[in-house]
Amino acid sequence: MSWLVKPVGHLKGEITVPGDKSITHRAYIFAAMALGSTRISDPLRSEDTDNTLRAVESLGGLVVRVEGTRVTITSEGTSVFTEPEHVIDAGNSGTGARLLAGLLAGCPFMSIITGDGSLRKRPMGRIVEPLRLMGARIDGRADGTLLPLVIRGGGLKGINYTSPVASAQVKSSVILAALNAASQTNFTEPALSRDHTERMLRAMGVKITAEGGTLTVDGGQVPKAGHLKVPGDISSAAFFLVAATVLEGSDVFLKKVGINPTRAGILRLLEAMGASIEVTTLGTEGSPEPLADIRVRGTGDIKGISIPEEWIPSIIDELPIAAVLAAAADGVTELRGASELRVKESDRVFTTVQMLHEAGVKVEELKDGFRIYGPSTVGVGTHNSHGDHRIAMSSAVLSLLADAPSQIKGTGCVATSFPGFPNLMNHLLPGSIETSLT
Ligand code: S3P
Repeated sequence: MSWLVKPVGHLKGEITVPGDKSITHRAYIFAAMALGSTRISDPLRSEDTDNTLRAVESLGGLVVRVEGTRVTITSEGTSVFTEPEHVIDAGNSGTGARLLAGLLAGCPFMSIITGDGSLRKRPMGRIVEPLRLMGARIDGRADGTLLPLVIRGGGLKGINYTSPVASAQVKSSVILAALNAASQTNFTEPALSRDHTERMLRAMGVKITAEGGTLTVDGGQVPKAGHLKVPGDISSAAFFLVAATVLEGSDVFLKKVGINPTRAGILRLLEAMGASIEVTTLGTEGSPEPLADIRVRGTGDIKGISIPEEWIPSIIDELPIAAVLAAAADGVTELRGASELRVKESDRVFTTVQMLHEAGVKVEELKDGFRIYGPSTVGVGTHNSHGDHRIAMSSAVLSLLADAPSQIKGTGCVATSFPGFPNLMNHLLPGSIETSLT
């Protein structure tokens, strides 16, 4: 699939972005672990999250009902799960694979997790190591550092573990295993990663204490079934926030977006670069996640900055679209300390730099980030998504700054997180994206 992106003006209107991907994966997995019926409102329907839903369904003992914008999971809990007949395919999703591995490490049977070509290259040693220390037997390619992983779970004990990376996927994987362990687990990470797991599990009655950067989880806890509301995905909102900021005259209103501070680094960055953003916090509708309406206007007056390293965990998925913002900003924008970007759906240091090169923007690739020189004339490009949904959508926003249409190749991957992206962009900027099956 490909898109032809036409720079036809500025964005105007109101949208609701689809449900948060990170929270949807967790909602499905936590609901499957709970006893009883959990109603999940506004989950993201996408390839990644549907793969996770299929994976939990394959464990047995639960009934999944999909009705409109709601998914209800009625489960008898982890203790009745049985060995899945098939290999679990997490597709493109690191979150799906790593969180499911944490769950399966606590289940007394064999399971196999694999994924697509991108996911099979991504590091799994970061979860295999703590899960093995807890007692799970895990085999995988390259001694368990690559998928497929074969997990023989059960009989876990708690551990004291310090993760070398600030990763919510590692943290969540260990927490899920810890819930099925015989003793207490203490988990420390070098910086606070997104905390959806802690918030959601606490809302489901699980006790997780935090002290001095260490989380403590007692084993043998079962989440309580109930209602989980999924807020709009700030990572999906980010494409429109940046597009509206860089296209002068834009005025966009985004409704009910999740603004969890461990996720909302893009808002902080937009403000620091001088964007016109109004954030109106809303009631949480019973969700443990804060929600807001966001209005963004394109004033054409943004400045490059050095992105503080401590912001990186909260903006990690938005760095490709932040690079588009930097190309339009006045001055140099520098990112350092972001080598985690190299192990995402693509090597996003490389693919982000390539995207800018393809449009003639001056950029330097650094070992752990990039340096972008703005404001740049954006040339007409032929962009390659490299199979990475966020690169495809960032390339589309970049192309709106050119003076003639650009082509984005390999846009099928957008279905992993945001199948409705071209429609929503066309709603705000009619005629901007033409999709083609070739
Ligand atoms: C995610 C955590 C982040 C993020 C990913 C989703 C999650 O990865 O990049 O897209 O849902 O926990 P890490 O935790 O590995 O940094």
